[in-house]
Amino acid sequence: MFKRISALMLAGLTAMSVAACGSGGGDTSANTGGGGDSTITMGFSQVGAESGWRTANTKSVQDAAKNAGITLKFSDAQQKQENQIKAIRSYIQQKVDVIAFSPVVESGWDTVLKEAQNAKIPVILTDRAVDSKDTSLYKTFLGSDFVEEGRKAGKWLVEEYKSAADPVNIVELQGTTGSAPANDRKAGFQEIIGADPKFKIIASQTGDFTRAKGKEVMEAFLKSNPDIDVLYAHNDDMGLGAIEAIEGAGKVPGKDIKIITVDAVKDGMQALADGKINYIVECSPLLGPQLMDLAKKVVKGEQVPARVVTEETVFTQEQAKQVLSTRQY
Ligand code: AHR
Repeated sequence: MFKRISALMLAGLTAMSVAACGSGGGDTSANTGGGGDSTITMGFSQVGAESGWRTANTKSVQDAAKNAGITLKFSDAQQKQENQIKAIRSYIQQKVDVIAFSPVVESGWDTVLKEAQNAKIPVILTDRAVDSKDTSLYKTFLGSDFVEEGRKAGKWLVEEYKSAADPVNIVELQGTTGSAPANDRKAGFQEIIGADPKFKIIASQTGDFTRAKGKEVMEAFLKSNPDIDVLYAHNDDMGLGAIEAIEGAGKVPGKDIKIITVDAVKDGMQALADGKINYIVECSPLLGPQLMDLAKKVVKGEQVPARVVTEETVFTQEQAKQVLSTRQY
């Protein structure tokens, strides 16, 4: 009897330590309701809570899991790759049915993805890509075309300055170093503006997708560059932090310095409607429902497309005024 109780206690403790090991800064498990396929358990490793976009994405995933009747084991990696790897290993040990994650950076995933493959647990990439050559390591990648987002930002700038003869001095606030959106938004933007030598990126640095870092880096840009014409920020949050820095330096955001950002979260859209941002390229965080549909198919062994690209638009100041009151996030 004692032996049985001890064995049960040991099993319980083991289960608890596995869950704790995978947490990397906050691991929760939620079931659901919703009717639907309650036999599926998904392990989801989120990047963190660095931006308004990320908060909206987390809510979308959690709500969609609930509506689909999928049990969600959720962990927040606090922007650290090692936490995501720990979480994925924990999900493998827990024998979840499917693992989904948004990789904080593009490189360094092959070993852990191979472990998931060996355990026969399908993996779905959501929001961000990995640079693994072996694409059999994951079933599908759901998310935005970040290169195209960068191109859209560049096209607006080229149009805005089409009759300017003088050089256009641009500063760039990059997203998290090594992340797919930082790499791709830079590349897409450069591809478009690179065709005309008058566009000059005079400073470019990471602001890690956060408001605080965006402000800090913009303050440094302003100190060392008296003649900034344009700020290109890889997300709204860094742009909003930069606006504080620009105002602190006695300049008028949107006029003295034109600002282009990516995301279109509510705070960004408010600043666009207020004339402090000039143009926003949308990146939709509402990936949850599509993710749950893909997860159900993948678990059943059905074919899914290798790439599912999110539909997105762009916003001018006038368009922001029109849609602001109905913006969901
Ligand atoms: O991967 C999507 C990006 O990550 C969003 O543009 C940014 O706000 C977030 O942190």
